[in-house]
Amino acid sequence: MIEKIKGFRDFYPEDMLVRENLFGTMRKCARLFGFLPIDYPSLELLDLFRTKSGDELLSQTYSFTDKGKREVTLIPEATPSTVRLMGSRKDLPRPVKWYSIPKLWRYEEPQSGRTREHSQFNADIFGDSSPEADAEIIGLACETLESLGLKGSFEVRINHRQIMEKIMNMLGTKDLVAGLNIIDRYRKETRENMLEELTQNLGSSKNAGLLIEFLSDKSKASEIAKTIHKHFPSLDLSELVKGIDETIRILESWGYSNLVFDPATVRGLTYYTGIVFEGFDINGKYRSIFGGGRYDNLTGLISGQDMAAVGFGMGDAVLENLLREKELWVIPRERSRYLIIPMKEETRKYALELAGSLRKSGVDCSTMNNVKSLSNSLKSASSGLYTHAIIVGPKEMETGKVTVRDLSSGNQEEKRMDEIH
Ligand code: HAM
Repeated sequence: MIEKIKGFRDFYPEDMLVRENLFGTMRKCARLFGFLPIDYPSLELLDLFRTKSGDELLSQTYSFTDKGKREVTLIPEATPSTVRLMGSRKDLPRPVKWYSIPKLWRYEEPQSGRTREHSQFNADIFGDSSPEADAEIIGLACETLESLGLKGSFEVRINHRQIMEKIMNMLGTKDLVAGLNIIDRYRKETRENMLEELTQNLGSSKNAGLLIEFLSDKSKASEIAKTIHKHFPSLDLSELVKGIDETIRILESWGYSNLVFDPATVRGLTYYTGIVFEGFDINGKYRSIFGGGRYDNLTGLISGQDMAAVGFGMGDAVLENLLREKELWVIPRERSRYLIIPMKEETRKYALELAGSLRKSGVDCSTMNNVKSLSNSLKSASSGLYTHAIIVGPKEMETGKVTVRDLSSGNQEEKRMDEIH
């Protein structure tokens, strides 16, 4: 047998039913927040990601030269394509609010929560630079997780690129992008490595020490100004902080209270210009559940016209880990799925007719197409993919009623056709 490629996943129905429900929840929440669907190709010109996404992501692309000698890549993220679509429709009244759930490909080292192919829920708002738009984006990410049953199980770590730039400049960074990349690895590196790398970047071990103290100081999101003042009393960032405070106030008024200010959240992608945020499980056990931020310059780079933009991406892999841990990775029961079991050869035709009528009235069902003993048939029905069995014997054919067995409780009831939903 030919094996599948490392880092890629197969999905069987028992997982696909859960995944379809997961994507359904994402779509439902996006629509609740007024976002509309878009889609784009899985293959794009590599240039779309050059310099825009950053060197790390570019080094992870599945890219190749096609038969027309074009350098192309399987898309490693959705944002540049989304921006390209926006740039080609300047006529659209703004703000524009779009969502999509593409598959993405990154040549990363496969590990828990990180695969080489994943599905990612993306939502973005264009043409709105207000703190309210930032709140809508973070609010949608929170609402999606809460709708999946994860209320209280996650936190959103928030920061602002310009706050970090001002602090890094004050501390004497020689290379801002490199400095932010070091900070991005803060929780993965030892303190010694951090100190060494930041000392090189800032040209001062004292300032590197001050920065590390600050990076470790996660606080309530409502205390950003206080936290910054504690570490850097001479720095006045009140204008910047006012905007984030407003976003946080709106989010809290909507009931999302799991928000923290985290100076170590800077985001690896280079294009962010404002608020940045990442969602994590409350115990910090897994990698990020979602991440995003404001990126007001990317539309200019891709389409030649600057436009305010903010958005997030939420992958399926960490979500699956977390939902499994919380015992929420279960096949949804709200829609019944019936297996119709003919007990005798002469009831097979009737079973097929029954299936035809049930489908016309919108009921999901299959028929067993060979006659086995009831216990064997029930064994097939208990694969987890059906919620009920409908047993059809000669008696049922005569009375017009059927026996419906709930496969999880084992309870049986006589029902008329129109009582089956
Ligand atoms: P990102 O942080 O690279 O951001 O990815 C967002 C989310 O996608 C992560 O938090 C994680 O859930 C998931 N993810 C990323 N890489 C993998 C992987 N190898 N395996 C499984 N899941 C993964 C972006 O991609 C931005 N384009 C998001 C964005 C949209 N920013 C603005 N709009």
